Amino acid sequence: MASVEHTDGEVLAGGDGVRRRDFINIAAVSFAGVGAVAVVLPLIDQMNPSADVLALASTEVDLSDIQPGQAIKTTFRSQPLFVRQLTEKEIAEADKVDPSTLRDPQTLEERTVDGKKQWLITMGVCTHLGCVPLGAGEGENRGEYGGYFCPCHGSSYDTAARIRKGPAPKNLEVPKFSFTSDTAILVG
Ligand code: FES
Repeated sequence: MASVEHTDGEVLAGGDGVRRRDFINIAAVSFAGVGAVAVVLPLIDQMNPSADVLALASTEVDLSDIQPGQAIKTTFRSQPLFVRQLTEKEIAEADKVDPSTLRDPQTLEERTVDGKKQWLITMGVCTHLGCVPLGAGEGENRGEYGGYFCPCHGSSYDTAARIRKGPAPKNLEVPKFSFTSDTAILVG
């Protein structure tokens, strides 16, 4: 078997170009790579949200006890959340408004899920300075547009929770949500 002289003068066995020292170096680097992965994985794992954090990030709401015309207040990510079932009349009132006349133009369709227009899910946080509007609780003042009324500075929201009067600049925010069944939603 012929020997091959390497450029640094080291003689290589068999001419296959793999020196023993190279092999040891490759093995050491490979081992270091495994070590790095082993260190990185726990770090990534630590960065993943835990189950209780994920639970806080989303809220499941049971709709089965909310009758047409009723609303409930719950919380989503530690902020008030309003879940309301609109009546046919409230839907008609929202639909008859020309959205181009609104401060924050949106239709009820755009604020609800296809085929489930009666379910209005919004944050319960006034878009002026963050007070909690009235209207989700039993017997509370819903303001002159029948939706929600913020007593702090008099903002009135309509039955699609769109701003109609007062200093609030935007409609009540609709969070991301989806139906998990006919009678339940997952917010977040
Ligand atoms: S915070 Fe609602 S009107 Fe000012």
